[in-house]
Amino acid sequence: MKVVVADTYEQECLLAADVIEQVVREKPDCRIGLATGSSPVGMYKELGRRCREEGLDFSKADTVNLDEYVGLEPTHEQSYRYFMDVNLFDHINIDKANTYVAKGVGDVEENLREFNEVLAKKTIDVQVLGVGPDGHLGFNEPGEKLWDHAHKEFLDESTIDANQRFFASRDDVPRYAFTMGMGDIMRAKKLLMIINGNKQDAATKLLMDDKIDPKCPATFMKMHSDAVVFIEKKLADEIGYKG
Ligand code: GLP
Repeated sequence: MKVVVADTYEQECLLAADVIEQVVREKPDCRIGLATGSSPVGMYKELGRRCREEGLDFSKADTVNLDEYVGLEPTHEQSYRYFMDVNLFDHINIDKANTYVAKGVGDVEENLREFNEVLAKKTIDVQVLGVGPDGHLGFNEPGEKLWDHAHKEFLDESTIDANQRFFASRDDVPRYAFTMGMGDIMRAKKLLMIINGNKQDAATKLLMDDKIDPKCPATFMKMHSDAVVFIEKKLADEIGYKG
């Protein structure tokens, strides 16, 4: 696993956008795995700029998102479909028919069947990841056991706490989400993580020792043969990471 310490969040985003740009230029019909949360927002903004101003071409690419809240309509402002439209898809020349975010409403089994079918169709060339304060990837919450394929997760209290900032109240945060499994994430050819915010605990477990711990799913990154983690210098200093 390669670790890149960036001076600022802005620099983190530019370097991360370089990774996506390289994949898209080398393989225009690539599949990009996407993440929500505040961490990748700056990178998405930069990809929009590169598409508009530098001709970075997403017209042949397709995307699949890590996760979606159960119970939110795609038009809900906090649904991940809405997030992706507003933060990325509306700013690049991708065909929205080629973007997939799991359905949050409707029949649970049918939605999961469809999600797993989409994942089985094509290998992800590069998977964008953030990390939850508790170390979750997508919505794979820490536990004794993790899942291989897409499934429904009951969200940890700490995840609800962390994500309530986006909702009117804590009670409005959905209790369940659909997420790619850890196997789905690990099968991506390349993993790209942007660590941003108060992630001292997860960053310490990811960067400061050699352990793989299902109680911190982010640590599975260590096993991937082509993974890169971008971390801000301030956070790296806080956890004592020297490189
Ligand atoms: C949510 C998403 C995760 C994301 C995490 C971190 O829980 N399901 O995929 O990594 O938030 O979010 P942020 O980047 O806002 O800290």
